[in-house]
Amino acid sequence: MGVERVQEIANFSKETIPEEFIRTTYEQPALTTVQGTVLEVPVIDLSDPDEEKVVRAIVDASSNWGMFQVVNHGIPHETVRKLKEVGKAFFELPPHEKEAYAKPPGSQSIEGYGTKLQREVEGKKAWVDHLFHKIWPPSEINYQFWPKNPPSYRKNNEEYAKHMHGVVDKLFRCLSLGLGLEGNEMKEAMGGDNLVYLLKINYYPQCPRPDLALGVPAHTDMSAITILVPNDVQGLQACKDDHWYDVEYIPNALIVHIGDQVEIVSNGKYKSVLHRAKVNKEKTRISWPVFVEPPSDLEVGPHPKLVNEANPPKFKSKKYSQYCFCKLNKTPE
Ligand code: OGA
Ligand code: NI
Repeated sequence: MGVERVQEIANFSKETIPEEFIRTTYEQPALTTVQGTVLEVPVIDLSDPDEEKVVRAIVDASSNWGMFQVVNHGIPHETVRKLKEVGKAFFELPPHEKEAYAKPPGSQSIEGYGTKLQREVEGKKAWVDHLFHKIWPPSEINYQFWPKNPPSYRKNNEEYAKHMHGVVDKLFRCLSLGLGLEGNEMKEAMGGDNLVYLLKINYYPQCPRPDLALGVPAHTDMSAITILVPNDVQGLQACKDDHWYDVEYIPNALIVHIGDQVEIVSNGKYKSVLHRAKVNKEKTRISWPVFVEPPSDLEVGPHPKLVNEANPPKFKSKKYSQYCFCKLNKTPE
Protein backbone atom coordinates (compact mmCIF):
# COMPACT_ATOMS: atom_id res chain seq x y z
CA MET A 1 0.00 0.00 0.00
CA GLY A 2 1.04 3.61 0.33
CA VAL A 3 0.40 3.97 -3.40
CA GLU A 4 -2.15 6.54 -4.41
CA ARG A 5 -4.76 5.07 -6.67
CA VAL A 6 -5.84 7.19 -9.61
CA GLN A 7 -9.45 6.33 -8.75
CA GLU A 8 -8.98 8.20 -5.44
CA ILE A 9 -7.15 11.11 -7.06
CA ALA A 10 -10.01 11.44 -9.53
CA ASN A 11 -12.48 11.81 -6.64
CA PHE A 12 -10.94 15.10 -5.56
CA SER A 13 -9.75 16.37 -8.96
CA LYS A 14 -12.78 18.24 -10.17
CA GLU A 15 -11.22 20.89 -12.42
CA THR A 16 -7.50 20.37 -12.53
CA ILE A 17 -5.18 17.40 -12.33
CA PRO A 18 -1.93 17.01 -10.36
CA GLU A 19 1.08 18.24 -12.30
CA GLU A 20 2.65 14.78 -12.60
CA PHE A 21 -0.22 13.73 -14.88
CA ILE A 22 0.29 16.59 -17.35
CA ARG A 23 2.03 15.25 -20.42
CA THR A 24 4.68 17.11 -22.37
CA THR A 25 3.49 18.89 -25.48
CA TYR A 26 4.92 16.00 -27.53
CA GLU A 27 2.42 13.68 -25.92
CA GLN A 28 -0.67 15.72 -25.04
CA PRO A 29 -3.54 14.17 -26.95
CA ALA A 30 -5.18 17.50 -27.75
CA LEU A 31 -2.04 18.63 -29.56
CA THR A 32 -1.02 15.37 -31.19
CA THR A 33 -4.23 13.77 -32.47
CA VAL A 34 -5.27 14.07 -36.09
CA GLN A 35 -8.68 15.73 -35.71
CA GLY A 36 -11.72 14.83 -37.73
CA THR A 37 -10.49 11.41 -38.89
CA VAL A 38 -11.38 8.22 -37.16
CA LEU A 39 -9.02 5.45 -38.05
CA GLU A 40 -10.78 2.66 -39.84
CA VAL A 41 -8.67 -0.26 -38.84
CA PRO A 42 -9.55 -3.28 -40.93
CA VAL A 43 -12.57 -5.30 -39.79
CA ILE A 44 -12.27 -9.02 -40.45
CA ASP A 45 -15.10 -11.56 -40.40
CA LEU A 46 -13.61 -14.67 -38.84
CA SER A 47 -16.60 -16.81 -39.80
CA ASP A 48 -16.01 -16.33 -43.53
CA PRO A 49 -15.66 -19.85 -45.01
CA ASP A 50 -13.20 -18.51 -47.60
CA GLU A 51 -10.06 -19.01 -45.49
CA GLU A 52 -7.70 -17.64 -48.11
CA LYS A 53 -9.61 -14.38 -48.03
CA VAL A 54 -9.38 -14.21 -44.24
CA VAL A 55 -5.65 -14.94 -44.40
CA ARG A 56 -5.12 -12.18 -46.95
CA ALA A 57 -7.05 -9.70 -44.81
CA ILE A 58 -5.09 -10.62 -41.68
CA VAL A 59 -1.74 -10.45 -43.51
CA ASP A 60 -2.62 -7.05 -44.91
CA ALA A 61 -3.79 -5.68 -41.56
CA SER A 62 -0.84 -7.15 -39.65
CA SER A 63 1.75 -5.85 -42.13
CA ASN A 64 0.32 -2.36 -42.59
CA TRP A 65 -1.42 -1.55 -39.34
CA GLY A 66 -0.48 -4.07 -36.68
CA MET A 67 -4.07 -3.81 -35.56
CA PHE A 68 -7.48 -5.01 -36.69
CA GLN A 69 -10.91 -5.85 -35.34
CA VAL A 70 -12.59 -9.20 -35.69
CA VAL A 71 -16.31 -9.89 -35.85
CA ASN A 72 -18.21 -13.19 -35.84
CA HIS A 73 -15.34 -14.47 -33.71
CA GLY A 74 -17.27 -17.15 -31.88
CA ILE A 75 -17.08 -15.69 -28.35
CA PRO A 76 -20.71 -15.30 -27.26
CA HIS A 77 -21.63 -11.66 -26.67
CA GLU A 78 -23.13 -12.68 -23.36
CA THR A 79 -19.75 -14.08 -22.25
CA VAL A 80 -18.08 -10.75 -23.01
CA ARG A 81 -20.87 -8.81 -21.30
CA LYS A 82 -20.47 -10.90 -18.17
CA LEU A 83 -16.68 -10.50 -18.17
CA LYS A 84 -17.14 -6.74 -18.26
CA GLU A 85 -19.86 -6.71 -15.64
CA VAL A 86 -17.75 -8.39 -12.97
CA GLY A 87 -14.58 -6.42 -13.79
CA LYS A 88 -16.46 -3.15 -13.43
CA ALA A 89 -18.04 -4.36 -10.19
CA PHE A 90 -14.60 -5.14 -8.76
CA PHE A 91 -13.33 -1.61 -9.39
CA GLU A 92 -16.48 -0.19 -7.79
CA LEU A 93 -15.73 -1.97 -4.50
CA PRO A 94 -14.48 0.20 -1.60
CA PRO A 95 -10.70 0.80 -1.68
CA HIS A 96 -9.82 -1.62 1.16
CA GLU A 97 -11.50 -4.50 -0.63
CA LYS A 98 -9.48 -3.86 -3.77
CA GLU A 99 -6.26 -3.45 -1.80
CA ALA A 100 -6.59 -7.06 -0.66
CA TYR A 101 -5.55 -7.95 -4.23
CA ALA A 102 -2.68 -5.44 -4.47
CA LYS A 103 0.47 -6.67 -6.15
CA PRO A 104 2.70 -7.73 -3.23
CA PRO A 105 5.65 -5.33 -2.72
CA GLY A 106 8.78 -6.70 -4.33
CA SER A 107 6.89 -9.38 -6.25
CA GLN A 108 8.61 -10.45 -9.46
CA SER A 109 5.27 -11.13 -11.09
CA ILE A 110 3.08 -8.51 -12.67
CA GLU A 111 -0.08 -10.00 -11.20
CA GLY A 112 -2.35 -8.08 -8.85
CA TYR A 113 -4.15 -4.78 -8.40
CA GLY A 114 -1.93 -1.79 -8.97
CA THR A 115 -1.27 1.64 -10.34
CA LYS A 116 2.17 2.12 -11.79
CA LEU A 117 3.47 -0.42 -14.21
CA GLN A 118 6.63 0.79 -15.85
CA ARG A 119 9.12 3.55 -15.55
CA GLU A 120 7.34 6.49 -17.08
CA VAL A 121 8.54 8.86 -19.77
CA GLU A 122 9.96 11.94 -18.04
CA GLY A 123 8.46 10.91 -14.70
CA LYS A 124 4.88 11.43 -15.86
CA LYS A 125 2.06 9.30 -14.51
CA ALA A 126 -0.71 7.60 -16.41
CA TRP A 127 -4.37 8.17 -15.46
CA VAL A 128 -5.20 4.53 -14.80
CA ASP A 129 -5.39 1.75 -12.21
CA HIS A 130 -5.25 -1.89 -13.23
CA LEU A 131 -5.71 -5.49 -12.23
CA PHE A 132 -3.55 -8.20 -13.80
CA HIS A 133 -4.05 -11.95 -13.50
CA LYS A 134 -3.50 -14.96 -15.70
CA ILE A 135 -6.57 -16.76 -16.98
CA TRP A 136 -4.85 -19.63 -18.86
CA PRO A 137 -3.41 -22.29 -18.61
CA PRO A 138 -4.90 -23.62 -15.34
CA SER A 139 -1.43 -24.58 -14.05
CA GLU A 140 -0.33 -20.91 -14.28
CA ILE A 141 -3.32 -19.40 -12.52
CA ASN A 142 -2.92 -17.71 -9.13
CA TYR A 143 -6.44 -17.45 -7.77
CA GLN A 144 -5.05 -15.22 -5.05
CA PHE A 145 -5.31 -12.38 -7.60
CA TRP A 146 -8.83 -13.20 -8.79
CA PRO A 147 -11.42 -11.13 -6.92
CA LYS A 148 -13.83 -13.17 -4.77
CA ASN A 149 -16.29 -10.34 -4.99
CA PRO A 150 -18.45 -10.18 -7.07
CA PRO A 151 -19.02 -13.90 -6.50
CA SER A 152 -19.44 -14.67 -10.21
CA TYR A 153 -16.03 -13.12 -11.02
CA ARG A 154 -14.30 -16.49 -11.30
CA LYS A 155 -16.98 -18.26 -13.32
CA ASN A 156 -17.30 -15.39 -15.80
CA ASN A 157 -13.54 -15.11 -16.31
CA GLU A 158 -13.16 -18.85 -16.75
CA GLU A 159 -15.88 -18.83 -19.34
CA TYR A 160 -14.18 -16.04 -21.28
CA ALA A 161 -10.84 -17.90 -21.19
CA LYS A 162 -12.48 -21.08 -22.44
CA HIS A 163 -14.06 -19.29 -25.39
CA MET A 164 -10.84 -17.50 -26.32
CA HIS A 165 -9.05 -20.60 -27.59
CA GLY A 166 -11.03 -20.72 -30.82
CA VAL A 167 -10.10 -17.13 -31.70
CA VAL A 168 -6.47 -17.47 -30.64
CA ASP A 169 -6.01 -20.66 -32.67
CA LYS A 170 -7.67 -19.16 -35.72
CA LEU A 171 -5.55 -16.00 -35.56
CA PHE A 172 -2.29 -17.93 -35.20
CA ARG A 173 -3.28 -20.27 -38.01
CA CYS A 174 -3.97 -17.39 -40.39
CA LEU A 175 -0.81 -15.51 -39.34
CA SER A 176 1.16 -18.70 -39.93
CA LEU A 177 -0.34 -19.49 -43.35
CA GLY A 178 0.20 -15.87 -44.34
CA LEU A 179 3.95 -16.36 -43.91
CA GLY A 180 3.95 -19.51 -46.01
CA LEU A 181 4.37 -21.69 -42.91
CA GLU A 182 2.26 -24.70 -41.94
CA GLY A 183 -0.92 -23.70 -40.09
CA ASN A 184 0.40 -24.73 -36.67
CA GLU A 185 3.93 -23.33 -36.88
CA MET A 186 3.33 -19.81 -35.58
CA LYS A 187 1.51 -21.08 -32.51
CA GLU A 188 4.21 -23.70 -31.93
CA ALA A 189 6.88 -21.00 -32.11
CA MET A 190 5.00 -19.21 -29.29
CA GLY A 191 4.81 -22.22 -27.02
CA GLY A 192 1.90 -24.18 -28.50
CA ASP A 193 -0.47 -25.33 -25.78
CA ASN A 194 1.71 -23.65 -23.15
CA LEU A 195 0.72 -20.18 -24.35
CA VAL A 196 -0.23 -17.96 -21.42
CA TYR A 197 -3.25 -15.66 -21.41
CA LEU A 198 -2.66 -12.69 -19.13
CA LEU A 199 -5.74 -10.57 -18.49
CA LYS A 200 -5.43 -6.90 -17.59
CA ILE A 201 -8.28 -4.66 -16.63
CA ASN A 202 -7.53 -0.99 -17.25
CA TYR A 203 -9.70 1.32 -15.17
CA TYR A 204 -9.45 4.92 -16.39
CA PRO A 205 -11.51 7.16 -14.08
CA GLN A 206 -13.12 10.28 -15.49
CA CYS A 207 -10.55 13.03 -15.83
CA PRO A 208 -11.18 16.79 -15.83
CA ARG A 209 -8.33 17.38 -18.32
CA PRO A 210 -8.40 14.64 -20.96
CA ASP A 211 -6.59 17.07 -23.26
CA LEU A 212 -3.47 17.00 -21.05
CA ALA A 213 -3.35 13.48 -19.60
CA LEU A 214 -2.99 10.00 -21.06
CA GLY A 215 -4.44 6.74 -19.79
CA VAL A 216 -1.61 4.68 -21.24
CA PRO A 217 1.34 6.34 -23.00
CA ALA A 218 2.52 5.20 -26.43
CA HIS A 219 3.82 1.63 -26.49
CA THR A 220 3.77 -1.62 -28.37
CA ASP A 221 2.62 -4.73 -26.51
CA MET A 222 5.32 -7.26 -25.59
CA SER A 223 2.90 -10.16 -26.11
CA ALA A 224 2.48 -12.31 -29.21
CA ILE A 225 -0.97 -10.91 -29.81
CA THR A 226 -3.36 -8.92 -27.62
CA ILE A 227 -7.11 -9.34 -27.76
CA LEU A 228 -8.94 -6.38 -26.24
CA VAL A 229 -12.53 -5.59 -25.40
CA PRO A 230 -13.44 -2.05 -24.31
CA ASN A 231 -16.46 -0.61 -22.52
CA ASP A 232 -18.45 1.87 -24.60
CA VAL A 233 -16.13 4.85 -23.97
CA GLN A 234 -13.81 5.60 -26.89
CA GLY A 235 -10.16 6.32 -26.21
CA LEU A 236 -7.87 3.85 -27.95
CA GLN A 237 -5.52 5.52 -30.41
CA ALA A 238 -3.19 3.98 -32.96
CA CYS A 239 -0.17 5.51 -34.60
CA LYS A 240 -0.07 5.13 -38.35
CA ASP A 241 2.48 6.83 -40.59
CA ASP A 242 3.68 8.92 -37.61
CA HIS A 243 0.23 10.31 -36.78
CA TRP A 244 -2.15 9.51 -33.93
CA TYR A 245 -5.72 8.55 -34.79
CA ASP A 246 -8.77 7.56 -32.75
CA VAL A 247 -9.76 3.96 -33.31
CA GLU A 248 -13.46 3.54 -33.84
CA TYR A 249 -15.11 0.74 -31.90
CA ILE A 250 -17.38 -1.68 -33.66
CA PRO A 251 -20.07 -3.17 -31.42
CA ASN A 252 -19.20 -6.70 -30.28
CA ALA A 253 -15.89 -6.78 -32.13
CA LEU A 254 -12.62 -7.85 -30.53
CA ILE A 255 -9.67 -5.53 -31.10
CA VAL A 256 -6.51 -7.44 -32.02
CA HIS A 257 -3.03 -5.95 -31.59
CA ILE A 258 0.00 -7.58 -33.14
CA GLY A 259 2.56 -7.68 -30.34
CA ASP A 260 6.34 -7.70 -30.38
CA GLN A 261 6.70 -11.51 -30.38
CA VAL A 262 4.71 -11.95 -33.61
CA GLU A 263 6.77 -9.19 -35.19
CA ILE A 264 9.92 -11.06 -34.14
CA VAL A 265 8.83 -14.55 -35.25
CA SER A 266 7.68 -13.13 -38.61
CA ASN A 267 11.12 -11.47 -38.91
CA GLY A 268 9.47 -8.10 -39.30
CA LYS A 269 6.80 -8.92 -41.87
CA TYR A 270 4.09 -8.29 -39.31
CA LYS A 271 4.36 -5.08 -37.27
CA SER A 272 3.53 -4.59 -33.63
CA VAL A 273 1.25 -1.57 -33.38
CA LEU A 274 2.21 1.62 -31.54
CA HIS A 275 -0.85 2.61 -29.54
CA ARG A 276 -1.97 4.62 -26.51
CA ALA A 277 -5.17 5.37 -24.59
CA LYS A 278 -6.94 8.65 -23.92
CA VAL A 279 -9.17 9.37 -20.96
CA ASN A 280 -12.63 10.92 -20.84
CA LYS A 281 -14.01 13.94 -19.02
CA GLU A 282 -17.44 12.58 -18.14
CA LYS A 283 -17.09 8.83 -18.22
CA THR A 284 -14.95 6.07 -16.80
CA ARG A 285 -13.22 4.06 -19.52
CA ILE A 286 -12.51 0.42 -18.89
CA SER A 287 -10.74 -2.04 -21.16
CA TRP A 288 -9.90 -5.73 -20.89
CA PRO A 289 -6.85 -6.67 -22.93
CA VAL A 290 -5.71 -10.29 -22.84
CA PHE A 291 -2.00 -10.56 -23.59
CA VAL A 292 -1.44 -13.89 -25.32
CA GLU A 293 2.17 -14.62 -24.45
CA PRO A 294 4.86 -17.29 -24.81
CA PRO A 295 5.78 -19.08 -21.58
CA SER A 296 8.44 -17.01 -19.81
CA ASP A 297 11.34 -19.43 -20.37
CA LEU A 298 10.65 -19.99 -24.08
CA GLU A 299 13.23 -18.56 -26.44
CA VAL A 300 11.60 -16.55 -29.21
CA GLY A 301 13.32 -15.45 -32.41
CA PRO A 302 12.71 -15.17 -36.15
CA HIS A 303 11.27 -18.44 -37.46
CA PRO A 304 14.10 -20.56 -38.96
CA LYS A 305 12.05 -21.12 -42.11
CA LEU A 306 11.86 -17.38 -42.71
CA VAL A 307 15.56 -16.58 -42.53
CA ASN A 308 18.35 -17.36 -44.96
CA GLU A 309 21.32 -15.56 -46.47
CA ALA A 310 19.13 -13.22 -48.45
CA ASN A 311 16.85 -12.59 -45.43
CA PRO A 312 19.05 -12.42 -42.35
CA PRO A 313 17.36 -12.34 -38.93
CA LYS A 314 16.30 -8.82 -37.99
CA PHE A 315 15.91 -9.65 -34.29
CA LYS A 316 17.91 -11.47 -31.65
CA SER A 317 16.41 -14.60 -30.12
CA LYS A 318 15.64 -14.16 -26.43
CA LYS A 319 13.76 -15.86 -23.68
CA TYR A 320 10.42 -14.12 -23.35
CA SER A 321 11.16 -13.23 -19.71
CA GLN A 322 14.44 -11.66 -20.77
CA TYR A 323 12.74 -9.73 -23.56
CA CYS A 324 10.25 -8.28 -21.06
CA PHE A 325 12.97 -7.42 -18.54
CA CYS A 326 15.02 -5.58 -21.17
CA LYS A 327 12.06 -3.66 -22.48
CA LEU A 328 10.69 -2.65 -19.08
CA ASN A 329 14.14 -1.59 -17.86
CA LYS A 330 15.08 -0.08 -21.21
CA THR A 331 18.33 -2.01 -21.39
CA PRO A 332 19.47 -3.27 -24.78
CA GLU A 333 20.48 -6.80 -23.76
C1 OGA B 1 -2.66 -1.75 -22.78
C2 OGA B 1 -3.39 -0.90 -23.75
C3 OGA B 1 -5.39 0.24 -24.46
C4 OGA B 1 -6.78 0.53 -24.01
O1 OGA B 1 -3.15 -1.90 -21.65
O2 OGA B 1 -1.61 -2.30 -23.16
O3 OGA B 1 -2.84 -0.62 -24.77
O4 OGA B 1 -7.61 0.87 -24.86
N1 OGA B 1 -4.65 -0.47 -23.48
O5 OGA B 1 -7.06 0.45 -22.83
NI1 NI C 1 -1.20 -1.99 -25.16
